[in-house]
Amino acid sequence: MEVLASSALFFVALHLVSAAVQAGGLLGTVPIEEYGLSFQYYQQSCPQFEAVVGRKVKEWIKDYTLAPALMRLHFLDCVVRGSERSAEASKTLRGFEIIDDIKTELEKSCLRTASCVDSLATAARDATVSAGGPYWMVPYGCKDGRVSVAGEADKVPMGHENITSLLQLFQSQGLNVLDLVVLSGAHTIGRRACRPVQSRLYNYKSTGKPDPTRPDPTFDNAYYKNLQRKTGLLSTDQYLYSDSRTGPLMAALATQPNVFNYQFGVSMAKLGNVQVLTGDEGEVRTDCNAGNRY
Ligand code: HEM
Ligand SMILES: *[C@@H]1O[C@H](CO)[C@@H](O)[C@H](O)[C@H]1NC(C)=O
Repeated sequence: MEVLASSALFFVALHLVSAAVQAGGLLGTVPIEEYGLSFQYYQQSCPQFEAVVGRKVKEWIKDYTLAPALMRLHFLDCVVRGSERSAEASKTLRGFEIIDDIKTELEKSCLRTASCVDSLATAARDATVSAGGPYWMVPYGCKDGRVSVAGEADKVPMGHENITSLLQLFQSQGLNVLDLVVLSGAHTIGRRACRPVQSRLYNYKSTGKPDPTRPDPTFDNAYYKNLQRKTGLLSTDQYLYSDSRTGPLMAALATQPNVFNYQFGVSMAKLGNVQVLTGDEGEVRTDCNAGNRY
């Protein structure tokens, strides 16, 4: 009976995922114009924006451990605005130097035009593609916050939360249970990702450092498959697998690499549209680490 019930849930979940995908996911419903965003936002004011970001990301992620770092930074920037360097939780965050470098380059050609938020969102997209993940369109025109809200860093999920609080965090940003399950698939890559080849990859010539010459472990749905073998690293990853609200979706994605790949792009695009500041609500920072002082 239990087996029947859980396999029925599995098929319902699978059906829901494929229906969402066939309906063009949620991308079509993101009202970017309403937010004052546009894919052409920098076409006149900073035509080299995408090329600069793309070139810089390519340079930096020769150290392939930086691609996951950028993806995580983007997630936290969107969901908790918690990427202040001083915050306790940000000790495990890397990749700020890439954004600084991109920003310095952009300021040379388009003074105070391209926001840090847009630069990070685009860098995270390019990093995802370079790791073998999907491409998505980033709508431009998001402004940077004027004030850093240091307290918000408390919201950074550390890996021991329960599923109810993770769902609450996501729902407070207009993200749903499918977004939570799909975006967590990003844990398939990164420093702490659990892969059988990890020690080889991450202990180059016994230096404890990653082998810079090895290609990135590919971005795929291995996260879901590994969790079935109970090789997830964070407690939250195991909870996602065992919780009745998320487990069926996790199981469905373990068998559906293409659905995962497609929906990841959709959910990342959706993630980029939370807590959006436009027009006078924000500013274009000249220094991504601090609000402007003028
Ligand atoms: C919602 C629950 C989540 C929790 C509890 C969580 C927690 C964590 C933790 C604790 C780490 C390890 C940090 C370290 O010690 O190096 C990590 C890494 C990572 N997370 Fe998450 N995360 C969550 C969701 C997400 C989402 C939605 C993304 C989507 C982009 C993401 C992308 C990543 C990536 C790519 C890494 C590897 C970073 C690196 O290698 O530097 N995470 N996460
Ligand atoms: C989940 O975590 C929150 C915050 O720590 C806590 O208030 C809540 O009681 C927990 N819920 C369950 C079901 O354990």
